[in-house]
Amino acid sequence: MVQAAPFLLLLFLALGAHSLSAKKCSLTGHWVNDLGSNMTILNVNASGNFTGIYNTSVSATSNDIKPSPLLGSQHLPDQPTFGFTVNWSFSDSITVFTGQCFMDDEGKETLRTMWLLRSRVENIKNDWKATRVGYNDFKRLE
Ligand code: BTN
Repeated sequence: MVQAAPFLLLLFLALGAHSLSAKKCSLTGHWVNDLGSNMTILNVNASGNFTGIYNTSVSATSNDIKPSPLLGSQHLPDQPTFGFTVNWSFSDSITVFTGQCFMDDEGKETLRTMWLLRSRVENIKNDWKATRVGYNDFKRLE
């Protein structure tokens, strides 16, 4: 028991230091994706709900691009899964994103997402061409 004491003390200190330095993957903040689009996620509340602003760098339309509101929700553990909807202010389209916040060994965060972009079409006969699908990775803007 006496011999185990120093070992247990070291283990305790090491675990304590690790938990102090381990940063949680957090959605709050400014992000840029692989297309050059930016978004800001505002405060995530205790239930995991959040709002934000999305500035896309590209559009399927020829309309002037404007900042658009986003509304989302996340689970609350480490490396959480999340989803959010962007209601485009300059077109009749909606995009839903779903993904997970990943933390690498250097403490850098990635939001890995998939999305569906629904465009408005004039009638149901054109529905077949109304939905695009893709991926985006977001990195934190320091
Ligand atoms: C539209 O074209 O009607 C609205 C803009 C859509 C932008 C899409 S959403 C998925 C992809 N990721 C982005 O950052 N922008 C495009």
